[in-house]
Amino acid sequence: MSKKIIIGNWKMNPINLKEAVKLFKNVAKSISHIKKTEIVVCPPFLYVSGLKNLSKKISLGAQNVFGENIPNGTGAFTGEVSGEMLYNIGVKYVIVGHSERRAMGESNADINKKIKSVLSVGLIPIICVGENLRDENHGYFNVVKTQLEECLNGVKKVLISKIIVAYEPVWAISSTVNRHDANPEDSREMAIFIRKVLVDKFDSEASSVRIIYGGSVNEKDALDFLQNGGVDGLLPGRASLDAIKFTEIIKICEASSK
Ligand code: PGA
Repeated sequence: MSKKIIIGNWKMNPINLKEAVKLFKNVAKSISHIKKTEIVVCPPFLYVSGLKNLSKKISLGAQNVFGENIPNGTGAFTGEVSGEMLYNIGVKYVIVGHSERRAMGESNADINKKIKSVLSVGLIPIICVGENLRDENHGYFNVVKTQLEECLNGVKKVLISKIIVAYEPVWAISSTVNRHDANPEDSREMAIFIRKVLVDKFDSEASSVRIIYGGSVNEKDALDFLQNGGVDGLLPGRASLDAIKFTEIIKICEASSK
């Protein structure tokens, strides 16, 4: 069985490499005893090389990737970073389809290409799904189903166990205007549903896919989500920018793992 996983999404933070190194080191120095929890930090691209040798316990992830699968991962694509480049610099995970990127115009078809390109170079995609709003008729289940089906269209069955699915209800993310708290029950019912959609599409190969929760998760509710949210890990954003809070979440996960 895979370890539980805590993934910090730094988004467009902090302001310079010096601050990034300080934050990363402050986390790294407090987690030397962690054994049962996988820890990932996803900084902006340009801090990756400055952080990559600072801790053996923390893996690095990217927040985006170029979606076209092109020979050698190089070419005339101004402003883009390929999966090959990320792999070569030491990145292991890539967040794909985050709602903040979907809001910038990324479609399920774009995300599908990114997932395939990430998998083709041996990186692990962290695929974000989640509804913008909850409606009384429970239409949000269909929203997530469509996201999963379209984003994973054509992904080979043998690769499916590699992916991580992050359920991130957009209304619960800290950057959302009129944010509402999600509770572990919301997470649990959606995690069960996501597993069913995956198993319907990919058979038992999908039974080991890690499903995690993100959306304003912090050191106060992490235990509740891990114990009652039906998930294999957490994806904190804002809380990952505070070394004390992020470390606390990691320790809570460690203590709750068998
Ligand atoms: P948040 O971010 O914890 O600040 O809500 C999570 C995310 O958007 O990945």
